[in-house]
Amino acid sequence: MTELITLFNHGPVALITIDNPPVNALSPGVPERLESALEAAQADPATKAIVIIGGSHTFIAGADINEFAKNIAAGKPGGPSIHNLLAAIEDSAKPVVVAIEGAALGGGLEVAMAAHYRVAVTSANLGLPEANLGIVPGAEGTQRLPRLIGLAKAAELIVSGRIIKAPEAMTLGLIDGIIVGEFIADALTFAEGVAQTRPVPKASVRPVEPDPAALPAARELAKKIRRNQTAPLLALDALEAAATLSFEEGCKKERELSAKSLTTPQAAALIHAFLAERAVSKVPGLPKDTQPYPLNKAAIIGAGIMGGGIAMALANAGMDVRIKDTSQEALDRGLATVCKNYQNSVNKGRFPQSVMDERMALIHPQLDYAGFEEADIIIEAAFESMAVKKQLFAEIDKVAKPDCVLATNTSTLDIDEIASATSRPEMVIGTHFFSPAHVMRLVEIVRGKASSDRVIATAMALAKKLRKVGVLVGNAMGFVGNRMMFPYMREAQFLIEEGATPAQVDRALTDFGMAMGIFAVDDMGGLDLNWRVQQQNAHLIKPGERRPLMLQKLYEMGRYGQKTGRGWYLYDENRKATPDPEVEALIEQTAKDAGIKRRPITDEEIIERCIYVMINEGAHILEEGIASRASDIDAIYFSGYGFPAYRGGPMWYANAVGLQKVSDRIEDFGWQPAPLLKRLAGEGKNFE
Ligand code: 3HC
Repeated sequence: MTELITLFNHGPVALITIDNPPVNALSPGVPERLESALEAAQADPATKAIVIIGGSHTFIAGADINEFAKNIAAGKPGGPSIHNLLAAIEDSAKPVVVAIEGAALGGGLEVAMAAHYRVAVTSANLGLPEANLGIVPGAEGTQRLPRLIGLAKAAELIVSGRIIKAPEAMTLGLIDGIIVGEFIADALTFAEGVAQTRPVPKASVRPVEPDPAALPAARELAKKIRRNQTAPLLALDALEAAATLSFEEGCKKERELSAKSLTTPQAAALIHAFLAERAVSKVPGLPKDTQPYPLNKAAIIGAGIMGGGIAMALANAGMDVRIKDTSQEALDRGLATVCKNYQNSVNKGRFPQSVMDERMALIHPQLDYAGFEEADIIIEAAFESMAVKKQLFAEIDKVAKPDCVLATNTSTLDIDEIASATSRPEMVIGTHFFSPAHVMRLVEIVRGKASSDRVIATAMALAKKLRKVGVLVGNAMGFVGNRMMFPYMREAQFLIEEGATPAQVDRALTDFGMAMGIFAVDDMGGLDLNWRVQQQNAHLIKPGERRPLMLQKLYEMGRYGQKTGRGWYLYDENRKATPDPEVEALIEQTAKDAGIKRRPITDEEIIERCIYVMINEGAHILEEGIASRASDIDAIYFSGYGFPAYRGGPMWYANAVGLQKVSDRIEDFGWQPAPLLKRLAGEGKNFE
């Protein structure tokens, strides 16, 4: 076990290193020992200046988020108190320099801002991303940041949680130097250079420059990018305190606001979301030492929207990608879309033309299987038809090298049946990307009954390499995400038959926090696609089961959604949706013909029926082992289906509402609660 803190003297400079892997979080013991090391350096007359760095090439990624979660679970929300440490740093009579590699985030940046000087390597990441966790920075960050970089920039960084690199931090005045040479040597040299400076510069004594427009602008920004979230607004109150009160009083106010934010359900949900997203990579039952196959070269079948998006995701991660389609026209169209997407990014300044050129050069369009024998992974992203996929898997089985992972991007089909078309079902797995695949973070990794551990580990490693959230799920119709989406979609359609309108349902859902309403989602995905999936699964409908009436009608009218300019909504040339009176009249007529008496429907009923039906399906999925953990379902929903992370995901939300209430309401609606839901509710337990 490493020492949490070490102190070495390098001539007149004391070098203090924090070693709390993986990210040097401020876990219990770290602040206290850092303070003791500072005291020791103070007491040593030979020491003229102090440098603080983090071990493992990173500074401090903030307070320990696991501690937050533990305290919340124990009903005592709270974080570490590092105010004594901050005072010890800032009040040090000897200059203190924080030298940053990797991350100086949250409490990490707050420690750095208490130091007299900050230097960083070019690639260092600095920021106060606490809003992502639903909390207000609680270690004087809201008071020092505006003193260093001005109120407007501080407010923007805190509301957005945006992480900046050293060059931007330098321009803003957040750091005092960029290290381009040898990290420790340069940090020590910098410290020697400032060792005699008196008085030492302290952020806390600087004034906050008046900027009356800063906070109103940040409140507008919060409304836009942090809809319904309380922590960013509380953080702005703390910034207001920085602008109007003394440093000490401002810190007191920040402490109150930070403590308050930690008691909110949003903080609990967002902290859960952070940990859930990281838990997905720990696959129960998969030995930790399972070696993934190498992942350098990839090949894709199908240059459509999905194939092209996946090619971009792979090229963005530096992988060489062959992409095959059956006609030159399809290939040209696919590559033109890839090119257009990259060009948009260049035009928006996301990366320079040279990066686009490098990525385009990694993507090789072709009409045959040439070079597929070198691929480490082949991803089939062809038409969603079992016959087509089986044919393709039989073909790639003949060309792929023995240790090539054979992946299908199917969103609903049976992986085992697809695998049966090959001589090596153990090498077959599902990698269900979401559209647009170069943007969306979720990949459902679908294990077939024969998929080997190494193949599973490789698919998980691929998701990591692409910086996506890869969640391992079982092979069942719709896997996890779509399987929960089907009843949600169905319920939304029942609601419009019974009296709501698509616009009302969508508004209630977006007010709840969903990124998009379900009808808008359907229009985006295509009603034709939805209809085809319904047809393929018609055999699963139980006799006497209520079926929604409208989808078929709209499909038969050629209203396929955005692509035809009309679906549930009407679309203008900018794809802006407006409710269509024709659709509303058709809904009324359809309901009348079916003998459904329409009535006013409240937003509360919309939310309960849409979300609880999803939760109930999630409970079935958990019980069947299709998802290993409730938190995996949550991660799928907030990373791929627009479920608000500040509600933690559907299963966390169910726990927060109370499983008994969810179960009771499900019975009120005349549905059958899933046995797991009913059992846990009866035992007073939660989904886990
Ligand atoms: N506390 C505890 N564990 C943390 C952590 C933290 N602050 N930050 C990261 N970790 C852990 C992760 O859980 C993960 O653990 P695992 O290996 O067991 O899964 C491991 O470190 C690596 O993290 P990532 O998988 O996310 O690795 P990346 O390299 O992709 O990203 C990172 C590294 C940029 C540091 C990213 O983890 C991150 O953004 N962390 C959170 C930063 C943050 O929000 N800090 C603020 C905390 S709140 C705070 O400081 C309050 C203050 O005001 C008092």
